[in-house]
Amino acid sequence: MFERQVNAVRKRWHWVKYRDRLESVATMDDFKVLLDETDNSIFAAYKAWDPISRKDVSAVLDALSIDINGKRFLDVGPGYGSALDIARERGASAVEFVDYDPFVCAFNRIKGHTGWCTDVRTKLSSIAPRQYDFIWLKATFSANRFIDRERGLGMLGFYRYPKLESILTDVDRLLAPGGIAVFCPHWDFSGTQRRTPDVQNTPVTTALKQQGYSALPWIPDHHMEPIYPISFIKTRPGAN
Ligand SMILES: C[S@@+](CC[C@H](N)C(=O)[O-])C[C@H]1O[C@@H](n2cnc3c(N)ncnc32)[C@H](O)[C@@H]1O
Repeated sequence: MFERQVNAVRKRWHWVKYRDRLESVATMDDFKVLLDETDNSIFAAYKAWDPISRKDVSAVLDALSIDINGKRFLDVGPGYGSALDIARERGASAVEFVDYDPFVCAFNRIKGHTGWCTDVRTKLSSIAPRQYDFIWLKATFSANRFIDRERGLGMLGFYRYPKLESILTDVDRLLAPGGIAVFCPHWDFSGTQRRTPDVQNTPVTTALKQQGYSALPWIPDHHMEPIYPISFIKTRPGAN
């Protein structure tokens, strides 16, 4: 736990140091110079995960026969931007993101996507409401941190999660009538053992179900043991 907090502080310090330069960087070559300078292992991990993430969002759209051609797509926590790229390739009319990592924001902006660089734990409500036909939240949130919060386990101020319900309310607000949100948190594990073996009986699953989400059937390339054992979907009523 202590190591996690030290890493979080180190990550934030890096962001503060490079934020201004990242905001003005305009080309992929210049971005790569900054990346090399920082030896950013977090971003390197996002890059390595790109082929998996591309298959992931494609698998969900195909399994559920969701056509996003002409639709407005929001990725909350895009990492390398794999889902954004797929949305653009599939003809989405708007492809947008929100993320707090200035490296992620700069990279996806240079790729031609539009976004906000902010913390989605508290600032998702600042985005204009009712705009998105599809909202993708994959691996942005840790289920265990919501559970720890419910159990009263303390965290450093900036590191603390809000109640899951408040994030879900913000997501609801962003959905257009008939819009769909897919919410798939990651779960802590060690080796092949998940810290929470039974993900069904947790405050996370309960909160999602109370907010109108239902668990998706197992989708290969989207669900994954032990880290993504469960994923949720919600459709906002009101489509014509
Ligand atoms: C593990 S990556 C997942 C990337 C992508 N969704 C995927 O599945 O490949 C988590 C992403 O969520 C972002 N993220 C995590 N917590 C966040 C927060 N509180 N506010 C904004 N972005 C956050 C990270 O910066 C990163 O881009």
